[in-house]
Amino acid sequence: MNNIYMSYKIAGLDLPHINSDDKLRRILTAALPNKSDNNSLQEINYWDAEFFNMHQVKIFQQASVAEQSAILHITNRSLLAESYFIEKAGVGYMAKMVLLAETVEERMLYALFTADEATHLSQIINFLPEIEATNSNDPFLNLLSEVVESADKTVLLFVLQVVLEGWGLSHYRRLAKECHHPILAELFASFLQAEARHHVTGTMLFNRNPVSASSQTDAIDVLASFLSMVQVGPQSVLSAIEQVKGHLTRSQKIQILEELDTQTHSGTRLEILRSLMRGTSADAIVQALDERGAFAPLPAYQCVYLKNR
Ligand SMILES: [Fe+2]
Ligand SMILES: [Fe+2]
Repeated sequence: MNNIYMSYKIAGLDLPHINSDDKLRRILTAALPNKSDNNSLQEINYWDAEFFNMHQVKIFQQASVAEQSAILHITNRSLLAESYFIEKAGVGYMAKMVLLAETVEERMLYALFTADEATHLSQIINFLPEIEATNSNDPFLNLLSEVVESADKTVLLFVLQVVLEGWGLSHYRRLAKECHHPILAELFASFLQAEARHHVTGTMLFNRNPVSASSQTDAIDVLASFLSMVQVGPQSVLSAIEQVKGHLTRSQKIQILEELDTQTHSGTRLEILRSLMRGTSADAIVQALDERGAFAPLPAYQCVYLKNR
């Protein structure tokens, strides 16, 4: 087993699916609280150009209807695929927390949370026609898999449950609110209660113990990497445009990011992230990240500069 494989063990992002005629699938379907199947699947764009701020982008406005819909299709798919991988990693993470629990009640709670994430995963799969088993070039997913491997429970609680589950909560709320497909909108809305419970539990358990110096350093490093991905704005939208329209020059990319209003886009997100970290025993972590400028949204030219070295 090489290191790359090892680093994905708990998150299980590359775990394969069984064949559709495998008997295990029937047992799984029967065991899931939601007995839905693929009937709800439709090839439509669940979120529109406004959702991605693409209606403000000239190259998108001037594109043909076919190109516009191809770009939207890519951005829609990557949103769903991202949720798929997050829930997939969530199942592994919660199972790990079952083993790390220090009381019977904590263990029971994490076992229930594992089932929540498995349920969410099964529901998202209904909306994804075919799934790439791995998405290893996504820096966020790579970072997520790496953190989940950590042996430091304080880091796990803070990064994954306080920050990322809290972030996921506002992300899913927005996905639900702006989704044009009523069943999918309802689905994301139905995740909120469970995700809020995961977040609150993490915050409570995190605040129970003092944060050691080494946990603090680890959390700062991971969060700095995560925040740097948010600082560079909606790169996935940029990449979807490039996939359809062909190669974009550096100045075209800067223009698109400016039209996408990248600084406001990342500024809002960074502010949400900062407020999630506040009010916990993590003041020193927030302060260290502030000193690194980790919460500052970057102007368009720096987003492109960083991405292309
Ligand atoms: Fe979930
Ligand atoms: Fe969750």
